[in-house]
Amino acid sequence: AVAKPKTLPLAGRHILVTAGPTHEPIDPVRYIANRSSGKQGFAIAGALAMLGARVSLVAGPVDLVTPVGVERIDVQTARDMAAAVDAALPADAAVMVAAVADWRTENAATSKIKKAGDGTIPSLVLTENPDILATLSKSDKRPALLIGFAAETDDIVAHARAKLARKGCDWIIANDVSGDVMGGERNRVQIVTTDGVENWDEQPKDVVAMKIAERIAAALSLL
Ligand code: CTP
Ligand code: CA
Repeated sequence: AVAKPKTLPLAGRHILVTAGPTHEPIDPVRYIANRSSGKQGFAIAGALAMLGARVSLVAGPVDLVTPVGVERIDVQTARDMAAAVDAALPADAAVMVAAVADWRTENAATSKIKKAGDGTIPSLVLTENPDILATLSKSDKRPALLIGFAAETDDIVAHARAKLARKGCDWIIANDVSGDVMGGERNRVQIVTTDGVENWDEQPKDVVAMKIAERIAAALSLL
């Protein structure tokens, strides 16, 4: 007898993932950034593809190999990321793992800012970036399953619950970044939904990724 090929659980689904930091220019040689390595987001994109999804990965500047089967769109700034997310829609689910810079300089200088020579310090005027997740949750292109991440150092679940409500997403995956999570290989996450909180043990980021992908497959199968 010939074994019947098993259909992958996310076959036919399109899933959008954002990952990495964004870089916000100050002048042609300097930028505002954060410590996101992109590892968790890339691992999630790869795990979703392994389960059969078509995956669009909108990636900030990171030094990582594109996972097999994933379509990668590289961006630098939060505003580029917002535009790339919009262009990649529609999607059945979106997983917003990127550590989007909250602020950018109001006016990036087109020439390198030079030292005044007399000790005068330049000041940066910042302005808030668009909230990609909150915008998506209110748009008519909102994916049926919308997942945010929250990197926190204190009162993790309280902050995650507040974000779930404020951003109008279905789950917030919260992680405690007070240790060496940013850039590290392991992660401990808590899945916060309106139904409650699941606490997962600390484990390698690729294991966390596969469990998240499986949870997404299970949730989409019920929609
Ligand atoms: N996010 C986004 N666009 C932004 C900021 C955040 O899409 N401009 C998304 C992130 O990708 C993440 C979620 O929102 O999925 C939560 O990000 P976080 O930085 O924790 O939330 P903030 O609202 O920026 O709050 P905080 O003051 O804690 O940084
Ligand atoms: Ca933020």
